[in-house]
Parts: sequence; structure tokens; C-alpha cells
Amino acid sequence: MISSHQLRCTGCASRIAGDQVPSDFRCANCQSLFEVVYPWSLATPETTRQDLPNPAALRWLWQERRTSTQAIDQSGVWRFRDLLPIVRDLERVTTLREGNTPLYELPRAERALGLNWVLAKHQGMNPTGSFKDTGMTAALSVAVERGFEWVACASTGNTSAAMAAYAARAGLRSIVFIPDGKIAWGKLSQSMDYGALTVQLRTDFDGCVRLVNELVRAHPIYLLNSVNPYRLEGQKTPAFELLEQMDWQVPEHIIVPGGNLANSSALAKGFAEAKLLGLIQRLPRISIIQAEGANPLYQAMQASEGRELVPVTAETRASAIRIGNPASWQKAVNALQSTGGWCEQVSEAEIAIAKAEIGAEGIGCEPASAVTLAGLKKLAADGRVGKEDRAVLILTGHTLKDSDYTINFHRNELLSEAEQASLTSAQRGEAAELRKPPFVLDADRDTVLRALEAQMQQPTTVS
Ligand code: F0G
Repeated sequence: MISSHQLRCTGCASRIAGDQVPSDFRCANCQSLFEVVYPWSLATPETTRQDLPNPAALRWLWQERRTSTQAIDQSGVWRFRDLLPIVRDLERVTTLREGNTPLYELPRAERALGLNWVLAKHQGMNPTGSFKDTGMTAALSVAVERGFEWVACASTGNTSAAMAAYAARAGLRSIVFIPDGKIAWGKLSQSMDYGALTVQLRTDFDGCVRLVNELVRAHPIYLLNSVNPYRLEGQKTPAFELLEQMDWQVPEHIIVPGGNLANSSALAKGFAEAKLLGLIQRLPRISIIQAEGANPLYQAMQASEGRELVPVTAETRASAIRIGNPASWQKAVNALQSTGGWCEQVSEAEIAIAKAEIGAEGIGCEPASAVTLAGLKKLAADGRVGKEDRAVLILTGHTLKDSDYTINFHRNELLSEAEQASLTSAQRGEAAELRKPPFVLDADRDTVLRALEAQMQQPTTVS
């Protein structure tokens, strides 16, 4: 059975033991980030089948665990623990039964885009409402095993919510650095609710990252940003769960939002390991979508095919991905290149419409997640995604995370005049149809019935 792991530098390929890693998770030789490797994931062409975990046995085991009453089996992350042996004592794993998220079909989007398959893996249906929970259960369990009392992160809101919750469950204390006034209220409230020490810094996310690095260099505090490679071991498991939900068929496309640019590589690692083990025979293309105002990867791919990234000053209402200097950009470039995916950018107005469309499917998501549908439209328009292809959008956060955004859209108070003007007349018409502002009426029978009867006579507009 697989029992050990190491950390391998993604820059110079040097390998170290897990507990030898510097507190900022950067290689002492070359400052690059690490990835977790296992004896089986280092398999060479000479490795024989017998040296690798057996795919049929794994599939059976993972399925069996679904009916178990053990917390660790009920977790949609630790159910796949055979492929993330990063903690020795499984009794001490901190889990909120994360993962196990639904895979939905989006029929409205299929019709609108003329595609046969548009699917959404809704990672917002995790315990704290975002995909971060899958990574946090993994890295926080490592923090517990290594004896840390304090954990910390810089965040645009979701990492901090997840970290605060898992730290509270484990009895650890947590420090959150967030950009003052730049995160959604739902996320800020979670960090307070779960008892974190919440520090609002008068800077942006990139400024918060600088400060949290100073903090962990000065004190024995465990850093839980996605530079921590154990986070990505948890975040790779939705790849296995998705494949299981699709009966081990491989979708042609996975589409993810890009912010600090770690999640794309986590999923790519999951699919690559599944292929290595013979669970699947080919990889899906992983495409990354950024907001136009926070698009350093998009620019890097255009200018230098990802050889160099120039940080930008980020500005977008999709506050989760308001990041100008993404830590894991090189990992994201590898994910794009190893899977043959694309990086696209989408405008504020395109994000707003896509978010309302996902809401109109009865599903909903936070603004950053909606870039996936806006990006899919671009990939479908020029044939990069074909009619028969199965495209899976990774919806990263729950719609309740940022209800201000939703309300402003429906009241037509979100987009500026210039942003509205950037829309085609068809898009403007669609936005108008999607908007469902509340009616404010006197509580009088005739007034209410007359107003509603007028509405009932309108033809249904949702396609
Ligand atoms: N979607 C949501 C809802 C997010 O919260 C984030 C990142 C992303 C997408 C982008 O993922 O960074 O791996 O490319 N949020 C981080 C945070 C930065 O602090 O919550 P990524």
C-alpha cells in the first residue's frame, strides 16, 4: 500500500521530505512552488503495472465507501485517500464531509449555445459554500499532524471562510488577511462566525499575500494559501468524483475560473494521476477563464505563450478572482499546455449575464464562477468546443456568497452605462429578460391581483 510522499519543486525538480518545506512553501534553491509526489506518481515507463495501485480495485473501494458511516468515508475528499496519503493518522483528519457535490445538466445553456452537453460540477455545494473546502480539509489536517496551533491565509473571501471553519473544527486558531472593502459580505460574515481573527488590510489581495508571508516567516504559523501543495491534493479529488459521476467517461472540456491560478492545476493533477493509473485513457482539455480586469494569465499566454507573467492591477466585480499577481501561474500554464486547453477573458457585462443565466437554470453561483459559462460561449462560438463535446463548468462558489451582486443586477444597478453599451443588442435584450426585480406593492387585494394578472399575460421569456 502507498505510504509515503515527498514534495517536488516545480522549478528545479529537487525533492524534499514534507516536513522540510520552508514556511512560505517556496523552494530554497529557486523560489518555485512544490507539488506532492508519491512513489506511484513518479512512475516511469519501466514501472510495471504491479507497482501501481489497481484501477478496478480503487473504483470498487471508492464506491463501497459511499455507504459507510465513518466520517472519513463520507468525505468526498478522503473517500479517495488512497491517492492522497499525506497524513499518517487518519483518526485525526478534520472533515466537514466536504465534496460529494452534484453534477448538473444546464439545458437552458445547451439550447442557447447549440451544444448537446453543458454540465456544471457545483463546488459551491460544499460545507462553507466553495471549492476551497476540498483543499482545506487536506492541508489543515497536515497542520494538525505537524503540531501547529495557528494557521493563516490571505484571501479574497472563500479561502478565509473555509480556513476559519476547518480551524474551528480542529481547535486551531486562525488569522485571516483580507482586502478592506473588497470581499463579499457573505464571506466576511463566515470568517467572523467561525471565530477567526479577521484583519482587514487597506490594500488589495496581492498586498495581503505579501503581509501573510511576513507573518509566517516571523512566527510558527501554518500558511494555508494555495501555495501550500497539500491544499491541491484535496482540490484534485473533484476530478475523481466527476469521473465517477460520468461512469468513468472523460469529458472533452473542463472550464475553470482563474484567480490565484491553483485550482486549474489541482484538477489537471487529478486527471493526470487518473490516467497514469489507468482509470481513464485520455485527458480532458482544461481551459481557464479570467475577468478582463484581472487577466494576467490571459495576457501572458497572448504575449509569450506563458513564458513570462507581468502582474496587473486587478479590478473586477467578481471579487473572488480580483488578483493581479497570481502565485501559481506557472502551474496553470502547465495545466493548459499538458491538456491542450485555452485561456480566455470575459467582460464584466458578460459575467453578469452568465451569472443570471446560471441562476435562471435554478442553480445559481457566485460571480467568479459565472466566468466559466461566459468563457464557454467564446469557445463554442469559434468551434473550439464542438456540438457533441461534453463541457463541464466548475462552479466554484455558492450564489449566496455575494447576494449584493445579484440584487444589483436584477435592480439594473450593477453595470455602468459604458458596460451596458459594450453589449450587442441581443445581449441587452437577454439581460433585460433575465432581470427579475422585486415588485413593491401596497398590501391591497385589487392592487396585487391586477399587478400579477398583468404579469401572467406576458409570454414566458425563458427559453
Ligand atoms: N472561484 C472562486 C469562487 C474563488 O474564491 C477563487 C479563488 C477562484 C475561483 C479562483 O481559484 O485562485 O485557484 O485560481 N479564491 C481565493 C480566495 C483566491 O482567497 O478565496 P484559483
